[in-house]
Parts: sequence; C-alpha cells; structure tokens
Amino acid sequence: MSKNLLAGLCVSGPLAAQAPGHFPPDSLINVKVIPKNTPVMQVVGMMRNFTGALGVRCPYCHVGQEGQPLAQFDFAKDEKRTKLTARQMMRMVEEINRRLDTLPEHAQMTSHVEVTCNTCHRGVSRPMSLEQLIQETAQTSGADSAARAYRALRERYYGRAAYDFGEPTLDIAAFRLARGGKFAEAFAILRLNEEQFPASSNLATFRGNINLMKGDTTAAIAAFREAVRRDSTNGEAQGRLRQIIRP
Ligand code: HEC
Ligand code: HEC
Repeated sequence: MSKNLLAGLCVSGPLAAQAPGHFPPDSLINVKVIPKNTPVMQVVGMMRNFTGALGVRCPYCHVGQEGQPLAQFDFAKDEKRTKLTARQMMRMVEEINRRLDTLPEHAQMTSHVEVTCNTCHRGVSRPMSLEQLIQETAQTSGADSAARAYRALRERYYGRAAYDFGEPTLDIAAFRLARGGKFAEAFAILRLNEEQFPASSNLATFRGNINLMKGDTTAAIAAFREAVRRDSTNGEAQGRLRQIIRP
C-alpha cells in the first residue's frame, strides 16, 4: 500500500455506478490510496481489519444498511465523513511507517513493528483516552452522566485493550476537573473511583490535593491522614501533612 501516493492524482472521470447485486465487486472503482490493481479480496481483507480495529461494521463508512446484503452497498461512493476521515488515516499510517523505516539501524533489525489502525484504535472508533472522555463528559453533561458512561464502557470493554480501567485514570480525570474549577464534579469522580479502589492510598492523596486546590485545608488534612492510614509509606501524603501542619 506504500508507493502509491501518486494514485490520488490520477482522478478518474465521473464515477461509474457500481452494478448492484454483486459482491465482491469485479474491480475497484474509487480508490485513492489503495493501488487500483490490488486484488479485490485483499481489499476486503483490509476492510475487515478496519472494522475490527475500530469496533464498527461496514455501514459505519459505506452507504448501505446494517443487515442488508453487501451486494446492495455502494462501496465506491464518498458520502460519509467517516470514509473520508479513514482515507486520511490511511495516508497518515503510510507516512508513519515510512518514517519508521528511517529509524537508525532499522534495516538490520530482524523484526519490524508496523503501525496499523489497531495500534491507536484498539477497538474504538474515536480513540480518546478514558480520562479525557470522563473529564469532558463530566464537564459538559455532569458527573452523573460521566459515571454512567464509565460504567457502560467498563461493562463493554473491561479486559480489552480499549480503555485503561486502572486506578490512575479517574484520579487524573478528577484532577483535571479540579484544575478547571469543577470541584463538585471532581469529588464525584473520585467517589466513583473509590467504589472500585476503596483501599487506595493514592486516591486519598488526590482527594487531599484537590481539597488543597479548593482551599479546604481541614478536608485536605483528613484526606492525607487517610492516605497515610491506608499506606504508611505514602511519602507524598506525609510531606503534605508536614507542610500544612507546620508551616
Ligand atoms: C473505517 C472506514 C471503513 C470501514 C469500516 C470499511 N471501509 Fe471499505 N473503504 C474505506 C475507504 C476509505 C475506502 C477507499 C480507499 C481508497 O480510497 O483507497 C474503502 C473502499 C472499499 C471498497 C472499494 C470501493 C471502490 O471504490 O471500488 C470496498 C469494496 C470496500 N471498501 C468494502 C468494505 C467492506 C465489505 C467493509 C466491511 C467489512 C468495509 N469496506 C468497511 C473505508 C472503510
Ligand atoms: C497514530 C494513531 C492513529 C492511527 C494509526 C489511526 N488512527 Fe484513526 N484516529 C486517531 C485519532 C486520535 C482520532 C480522533 C481524532 C479526533 O476526533 O480528534 C482518529 C479518528 C478516526 C476516525 C473518525 C472517528 C470519529 O468518530 O470521528 C476514523 C474513521 C479513523 N480514525 C479511522 C482510522 C483507520 C481506518 C486507520 C487505519 C488505516 C486509523 N484510523 C489509524 C488516531 C489514529
């Protein structure tokens, strides 16, 4: 798929309508990144990789209805934003891999890691990190919506590589909310995290720091003490307590 950036320049005339009732098609009609002489079955294989990497199905990018026979899809048509974006992504991936080829001693390496859609997407169509997703949802729609979104995503994706459900994610989301002045949302997100990590000393440290940002020293002291109670080796919480209590 590499040496064909020029392919985009040979624009064919008005697009021929794809004969309906035929899948896989006999030839490629409107490809601008994939070389036009690529075997159609190879293209279909590539397309199946797209669907897997993004966690979607063909109609996400192509004109056609879910459940309809593929023969009735119009795969050549450029109508959906997602297809146009995907084409840009294909070009981006080519560029990245070209750049990887220029790494020092690359040619002598016995194994090469090629970047694919899945390197970033990992089963998600818009590969936003979970902390950003939760922070933005809490900011625009409130902490309850963010909590619902978190639970639904966890239900669907836990154990997959799509989202990081480890403890730091919601701590970071809460910290960013606090930095934006959204303290109620930040504490709500920490409570959500506490449901899953009730013994976390680190989480209590975040609560202390967010209370400090808010100017609530009493609550901060309580949180840092709790952090030390949970883990007596928590140096950050101990340091904060020394700073606050003995200024
Ligand atoms: C993430 C978006 C995306 C998904 C999902 C996707 N495709 Fe595509 N498909 C594209 C893009 C982009 C092109 C055009 C590539 C180019 O310009 O070189 C394309 C081209 C094609 C073509 C060639 C059309 C032509 O011009 O002749 C076929 C056939 C096709 N896709 C089939 C499928 C099938 C079958 C599925 C589901 C298994 C699928 N696609 C899923 C983005 C997608
Ligand atoms: C280097 C990381 C990376 C790679 C590799 C990558 N993508 Fe993306 N993709 C992104 C990011 C980041 C976004 C979100 C951009 C935004 O919305 O701001 C995105 C968005 C998209 C979207 C739009 C999603 C939406 O809902 O708006 C599509 C479609 C897409 N990618 C398809 C692909 C396909 C197909 C490939 C492989 C050919 C691919 N991507 C490879 C990072 C990547």
